Amino acid sequence: MAAPTGGELSGYDLVVQGLIPGYASLARLSVALLAASPLAGPNGAEVLVAGCGTGAELVEAVAQRPDWRLSAIDPSKAMLSAAQQRLGPLAEGLNWLESTVEDLQGEACFDGALSVLVLQSLPDDGSKLAFLSALARCLRPGGQLVLVDLMRPALPLLEDQMAEAWLGFQRASQLRAPLALLEPLTHGAHPVGLARLTALVNAAGFGDPARVFQALDYEGFLLQRSP
Ligand SMILES: C[S@@+](CC[C@H](N)C(=O)[O-])C[C@H]1O[C@@H](n2cnc3c(N)ncnc32)[C@H](O)[C@@H]1O
Repeated sequence: MAAPTGGELSGYDLVVQGLIPGYASLARLSVALLAASPLAGPNGAEVLVAGCGTGAELVEAVAQRPDWRLSAIDPSKAMLSAAQQRLGPLAEGLNWLESTVEDLQGEACFDGALSVLVLQSLPDDGSKLAFLSALARCLRPGGQLVLVDLMRPALPLLEDQMAEAWLGFQRASQLRAPLALLEPLTHGAHPVGLARLTALVNAAGFGDPARVFQALDYEGFLLQRSP
């Protein structure tokens, strides 16, 4: 997806806030959830922010849990540098990784992880499973992942209404954004339903997903790596 650079950052964040219902709270909620988990709860936990983008979850993590040792991973150099600019001097305390999660070396070294709006961009052709398996591999047994993603509506009857409501949300937010920024987040996304997500996360090495929040088709799940 097209990455913003320093000066465009606030514009980018306005775009996602106008596009994604509840975006302003996603990072705060996700960090608060992980911070209450058994392994990432104690002081000094190792936490991975997968697909950190422009750094929304990192800003929240640093504010809520200054004791966490944070690793921020994203394959996009532009995204990483936008996140670094956003964090300012605090960026120095983080471990920055320009890579996909799938290419991350090392096993079971994290107490918790966050993945916000990343899985949806990967097709269900083995890519979603590879991403989730890599996340499971790098978590300690019992470590939790907060996964937030665009989902396929549970009831086909609701599909049209949800789609119309989403457009209404965008109109009410006066969303105007270049197609190159919107396309990967909308028509270029690959949402799956709950049954498929469950099969994927189980195959990857997690227990069943527990839904912890939802705004239209954006849902947040808590996953625990199987022992
Ligand atoms: C829609 S952005 C979300 C960014 C941020 N989490 C947020 O909520 O604002 C998705 C990010 O995931 C990154 N990404 C895509 N595939 C990835 C992968 N396999 N491993 C890690 N990051 C990935 C992209 O480069 C992009 O920065």
